[in-house]
Amino acid sequence: MALRWKPLSVEELATFAKRKGFVYRNSEIYGGLAGVYDYGWLGVEMRRRIINAWWDAFVTRRKDMIGIDGATISARKVWEASGHTTSFTDPIVQDLVTKKYYRADHLVEDALGIPTDGLSLEELDRLIREHDVKSPEGNPLGRVSTFNLMFPLTLGAMQAEPNAYLRGETAQIIFINFKNILDTGRVKLPFGIAQVGRAYRNEISPRDWLFRQREFTQMEIEYFYNPKEDFPLFTRDYADRELPFLFAKAQEVGRPAEMVRVGRLVDEGMLNPVHAYWLVEAWDWFISLGIREEKLRVREHTREELSHYSRATVDIEYEYPFGFKELFGLADRGSYDLEQHSKASGVSMHVTLPSGEKIIPRVIEPSFGFDRLFMSLLAEAVHEDEKGNTILRFKPHIAPYEAAVFPLLSNKPELVETATRVFHQLLDEGFTVFYDQSGSIGRRYARQDEAGTPYCLTIDFQTLEDDTLTIRDRDTKEQERIPIRDLPLILREKLRAKRK
Ligand code: GAP
Repeated sequence: MALRWKPLSVEELATFAKRKGFVYRNSEIYGGLAGVYDYGWLGVEMRRRIINAWWDAFVTRRKDMIGIDGATISARKVWEASGHTTSFTDPIVQDLVTKKYYRADHLVEDALGIPTDGLSLEELDRLIREHDVKSPEGNPLGRVSTFNLMFPLTLGAMQAEPNAYLRGETAQIIFINFKNILDTGRVKLPFGIAQVGRAYRNEISPRDWLFRQREFTQMEIEYFYNPKEDFPLFTRDYADRELPFLFAKAQEVGRPAEMVRVGRLVDEGMLNPVHAYWLVEAWDWFISLGIREEKLRVREHTREELSHYSRATVDIEYEYPFGFKELFGLADRGSYDLEQHSKASGVSMHVTLPSGEKIIPRVIEPSFGFDRLFMSLLAEAVHEDEKGNTILRFKPHIAPYEAAVFPLLSNKPELVETATRVFHQLLDEGFTVFYDQSGSIGRRYARQDEAGTPYCLTIDFQTLEDDTLTIRDRDTKEQERIPIRDLPLILREKLRAKRK
């Protein structure tokens, strides 16, 4: 049966995700909390598997990477030293009638249909006056100013002043543990420190479902290297890769992305080899998860929009239902953070090279946002068959479940017993499996199609005679009868083939 991709709006994605149990609005029974979401029973399984796939690819399988899991709260001094308490801001503007606040750049972008990345407060202000941009309620707007996104905390009793912050990025917890890693981790340059965890930003106007939230999950790497040494991981294969690239200059004149050889970006000095290497690594990882190449592009940050810590940044953007926007950020942070923390704490962050020379390493930061990735994967997966049924075509290694096991009828103890045995056998073999005996078999297949489960295994009356079961393919709906004793082998093979 032919399946076709079904593009959904962001509202449709959110509605579907809620109905199936992927994602719920936080505090929904009290009207919801803007910019905060909870992962539901299917979402949590998929979340664990995506994060495991990330950890496996970028930590477990690499000789040059180790991980940490830092706290989400850290001392005020950390965020003062990193520059976040002063520079981690967005432009804000007030509706003069309702007194509500909005992201000034978003209002201008929506009203004029132009990209606003990196525009200064003065430029935004000028555009608002010149084009008479109004609030979403149609009211006049005040002056544009800045708003700090960090969440201050007062830890301990009777504390009047903030003495800590919720982390605005997981990255800083890596930098403040750099000395600990050097002392205990037996690492040699180049090496990376990876971390997965929640980050918090007081976004002025959270929007587009999971895209702009106030609490979200990052999967970040800080990759430290000596700029004076060659980087052999950036091989010819990496240099020869061609990616769709939107140059900063092209954005100024409204030119589209063009195919560019990654080696050219290095030759022209836009990216150093470490930076370019991580661009290809991240791109390939997204493709391996099932994102179509044509839905991705690379965008160079304009000078004005660079974060306070960055010397050069490129994003990988995904074409969401509302257009191309950042999925992944790749910044060259130089030695900014380690130097800032060395100065502020008095603890030296240098690395001693085999020659005895002491250097502060430079760092490239591949920063993956889990929630935007989840949203992209869901948007990519939604397909429809000829009858209008929904099928989520997730790659098997990130689908909530790899297989589902059903007894044909729930009121036949022999079938239930055998199905339970098969379920436990598969779990013991390391598969992620779902068991379901409620409702008609057709409904159970449909429910698993909508959850993205690649294979359904049904125990029927013939199973009791010859110890075989049927295995049904999510994408073709074809069924095959196979011996239970060969099931782990066959299932593993089928899952591997579908992953490609
Ligand atoms: N440490 C670098 C850093 O935090 P960023 O571009 O601000 O850089 C990195 O964030 C990634 O985190 C983004 O590419 C995006 O996937 C995710 N992200 C950032 N802000 C987010 C938000 N408000 N809601 C959901 N995801 C967000």
